[in-house]
Amino acid sequence: MKKLESREDIELLVNSFYAKVIKDETIGFFFKDVVNVNWDKHLPKMYTFWETILFGQMSYKGNPMQMHFPINEIKAMEKHHFAKWLELWKQTIEENFEGENASSAITKSENIANLMAYKMEMARK
Ligand code: HEM
Repeated sequence: MKKLESREDIELLVNSFYAKVIKDETIGFFFKDVVNVNWDKHLPKMYTFWETILFGQMSYKGNPMQMHFPINEIKAMEKHHFAKWLELWKQTIEENFEGENASSAITKSENIANLMAYKMEMARK
């Protein structure tokens, strides 16, 4: 098993994760039906997002929360969706990587997902 330490590692992780996501019965439809995701744009954004979070590269310039409010308005993003997202993310990491950055990618995604789930719920009230 290898460490999660380069841009290539992140690309592998993100690509493998979304391959699972789009096949998934619980959350796949968000990426196909709710939003018709342009993968050529979305994937590179996610590489820079994780590069910024894990390696402190400062290459990601967006606002990860903001992007999800309009999605949440079309179809409520609920706790069980986030639970599935996290399950697939954790699974993909554990299938491919070990070490500090791998653990950190799990912990950080849990924190962001919990905050996001809370914000989406509040936005619906
Ligand atoms: C049920 C959970 C989630 C769903 C259904 C979801 C869905 C989506 C969709 C459809 C997009 C738009 C793609 C496009 O540009 O066309 C997006 C963007 C994004 N998502 Fe999520 N997401 C979820 C959870 C998360 C979590 C937990 C994170 C972070 C750990 C995250 C990070 C991002 C980022 C960084 C973007 C790109 C924002 C930008 O354009 O700068 N998402 N998501």
